[in-house]
Amino acid sequence: MNISLKKITLFLTLVLLFAFQNSYAQETTITISKPEQAVEVSPNIYGQFIEYLRNSITGGIFQEDSPLSDENGFRTDVLEKMKALNTPVLRYPGGTVMKIYHWEDGIGPREERPARRNLIWGGVEDNHFGTDEYIKYCREIGAEPYIVVNMGTGTAEEAANWVEYCNGTGNTYYANLRRKYGTEEPYNVKFWSLGNEEAAREDAGRLQDPEKYAEESWYYAKLMKLTDPTIKLFVVADPFKFDWNDPVLASLSPIVDYISLHWYVGNSPDDPYSIYKNITRFDASLTELGDYLQQFPAKVENFSKWYRFPPRKGAIKISVDEWGIWDNTCGGQYNLDCEYTWKSALATASFLNVFHRQAENVTMANWAQSANILGAILANDEGSVEQTVYYPLQYFRKYVGDQLMKFEVEDMPLLAEDQTIEAMDISATYNNDNDELCVFVVNRSDEEQTVKLDFADIKMSTASLVEMTAPNENSRNAIGEESVVSIDEKPLKKNGAIKLAPLSINIVVVR
Ligand code: AHR
Repeated sequence: MNISLKKITLFLTLVLLFAFQNSYAQETTITISKPEQAVEVSPNIYGQFIEYLRNSITGGIFQEDSPLSDENGFRTDVLEKMKALNTPVLRYPGGTVMKIYHWEDGIGPREERPARRNLIWGGVEDNHFGTDEYIKYCREIGAEPYIVVNMGTGTAEEAANWVEYCNGTGNTYYANLRRKYGTEEPYNVKFWSLGNEEAAREDAGRLQDPEKYAEESWYYAKLMKLTDPTIKLFVVADPFKFDWNDPVLASLSPIVDYISLHWYVGNSPDDPYSIYKNITRFDASLTELGDYLQQFPAKVENFSKWYRFPPRKGAIKISVDEWGIWDNTCGGQYNLDCEYTWKSALATASFLNVFHRQAENVTMANWAQSANILGAILANDEGSVEQTVYYPLQYFRKYVGDQLMKFEVEDMPLLAEDQTIEAMDISATYNNDNDELCVFVVNRSDEEQTVKLDFADIKMSTASLVEMTAPNENSRNAIGEESVVSIDEKPLKKNGAIKLAPLSINIVVVR
């Protein structure tokens, strides 16, 4: 072969290599269409949770002696961040602390309230943030209150009295006590949970036997519903233990509106991608539980009038009462002090996609918790900051629609590091109010992805991309430092392919 032939061969090889590489760059097609039957997406899947747990409430959202607080003792910097989450529900006051918390410790003049040891989590609670402060906080951030009652050291009567304090309208003792302490109008607290993780032996769960829990819950439910028949009740269930769910629902299904699940995910040290597998496992359990709940018809028949309160109205739904990211990379006692990385944010966005896709089954979910403890927000005496996980909570809430959309995916790549995990996680919703269709795509891989959206017969006039990124998957935010998270909003070409940045959270907004 002479020199020029060699050169030509080399040139042709390079051309072929280049062409091969380009044809190899995978393009994923996502086809969006309307589902045959409309499925509503409840805004309540964007709830939050606070508990008497170290600096979750006091030192988190509430700090009386801080120059950063208002006249109520609410930390204004944290309040602004809570408001920006636009959370529709705030669950309170626990959590495991509900094994020992007595609500009457938290009403009346603050200086007269008893300080008590927090036997579950340690420290002392001065009870200066009690029911009235909680309701005021809910009103400030525009959230519905959701209260958990004490089924450990508490009684059914104590729980019913709490319902009367909040919702009573008559001339009766606890309704009058609320008036005496400054609030004439009832608080109308709709959501009430019958205990918290009652099966957990380690947490002094007194009712670990499901039959015992069901029996006690009936008694609580009865007194609470006799006090206010309009309240919605939540009963403790388990995503995987049907030997708990079966007897509990066999007894309580006529009167409870939601089953309450808790699910935290994290990475195990030997598997850096297990966080995604844990989410997928939970997703499958929600499908199974949704099917399981079908056995309880929406209309309860033959409910004896001698119960003296009405049965449940409508189908039983799932509330993921506590969810979040919690693993042994978090610091502090019980690993509750988490400094979330960008990977935690990618997992949070994937989790939110699950709640969108499961909209038919899941109608409430509460991120646990709001400030400091497993918090979306970190606060100390000097200031506060949004953690990485805050941004998907904020932006998905901002863009989520009220109707679920169907989608099909062609050529989904897998993570290079773990071929059991899909590189992208997707959901889609439509908003009837503003005619906006949003596709939520989490690119969990460290490679750019090319995506083609096919909107079938849906007409579109404009499209844009909200893109959230961080320098790498270990990036995190800290108080007093600039945020590591970049949020870009850019216009998209109609019908063109979309490039999704490595390790990015994306919302494609189509009008
Ligand atoms: O959110 C922290 C704890 O996690 C809660 O107190 C408990 O309900 C759950 O196990």
